[in-house]
Amino acid sequence: MTPIETVRLRLTGNPDHDAPLIEQAGAVVRAGGLVAFPTETVYGLGADALNPNAVQRIFEAKERPSWDPLIVHVLDLEGMRRLVRELPPTVEVLAQRFMPGPLTLVLPKAECVPDIVTAGRPTVAVRIPAHPVAQALLRASGTPIAAPSANRFGRPSPTNAEHVMADLAGRIELVLDAGPTPVGVESTVLDLTTQPPTLLRPGGVPREEIERLIGRVRLLKETVPEGQPLPSPGTSPRHYAPSVPVLLCPPEPRAFYNMVLHTLNQYALIGAMTPNGWQLPESERVLPYEWGDWGDWQTLAKRLFEGIRWLEAQGVQAIVCPLPPAKGLALTLRDRLQRAAKPPTP
Ligand code: TXA
Ligand code: MG
Repeated sequence: MTPIETVRLRLTGNPDHDAPLIEQAGAVVRAGGLVAFPTETVYGLGADALNPNAVQRIFEAKERPSWDPLIVHVLDLEGMRRLVRELPPTVEVLAQRFMPGPLTLVLPKAECVPDIVTAGRPTVAVRIPAHPVAQALLRASGTPIAAPSANRFGRPSPTNAEHVMADLAGRIELVLDAGPTPVGVESTVLDLTTQPPTLLRPGGVPREEIERLIGRVRLLKETVPEGQPLPSPGTSPRHYAPSVPVLLCPPEPRAFYNMVLHTLNQYALIGAMTPNGWQLPESERVLPYEWGDWGDWQTLAKRLFEGIRWLEAQGVQAIVCPLPPAKGLALTLRDRLQRAAKPPTP
């Protein structure tokens, strides 16, 4: 891959300033280029979903294996309807409550969706992002946008433009920088081709809220070893991982303190994802990231990847983190942390 110059366009929120920059980004998408842009969840790496060559470049820039299909972003239900064979009635029920927003639906795909987008599957994942910049980019492009998270494959997702630059500078044309993303974890992926629907990836919309609306949702039981066919690629056991070990402990201040103390015996410098008010051993070799109030899952979600990436950039050799419980939005944090904590397969 020959390096290209990556242009970072800083948006201000003022339409007079931003509109021409977003037009420019739309033109890059139409021309088959790669544009990283904010969604409400994480930054996405976008390309024209109907242009197989453009989509191929996403896989190259991310070093993403070709078996891992992409989410296609659209503006509204009409846009969604064009990409699928049919929209079951459940979609409208879900849309009323959760769209635009961090919910991705897997549905039987229409002819027009290139195989490279879906990794050869008969289904396509679609979502309507809520971020105004994502919506403006979709309008300016005039085409559905395929976009995985804008990180190198397997790394923690990017929640600001610095994260995108750290992973992808020299590989993509443009980054639309609109500051940190509000949700901070990826969308919930729900497969509507099964009965009952299957939760493929917990995300920004908690499973319980979906079940309140449409009834029971099945959970995936087992994760599948890397490289083998997956019900959903997001189910890779190791993912969202920094370059250093992540060590999880039970979510009590005492257990956290002890785990940090114990870990100090093994590493020269360790990072700690530290809830407000939780004690750490007195040591210059412990670097805290002040994460937020334990139980305030929205704040903790927004700051999760930011904290992990920040500690990693400070040169810590391991990261200690309390493990959130398996319900509501906390389940999403738990899922990401458990994948980040899996040791690499040799
Ligand atoms: O919040 C998000 O979803 C972000 C923003 C940019 O929209 N995107 C994102 O994309 O997280 P990515 O590529 O990192 O994760 C895509 C996930 C896969 O892990 C998989 O679970 C699911 O989407 N997926 C995509 N196509 C699928 C398909 N046809 N069948 C099953 N799962 C699919
Ligand atoms: Mg991803």
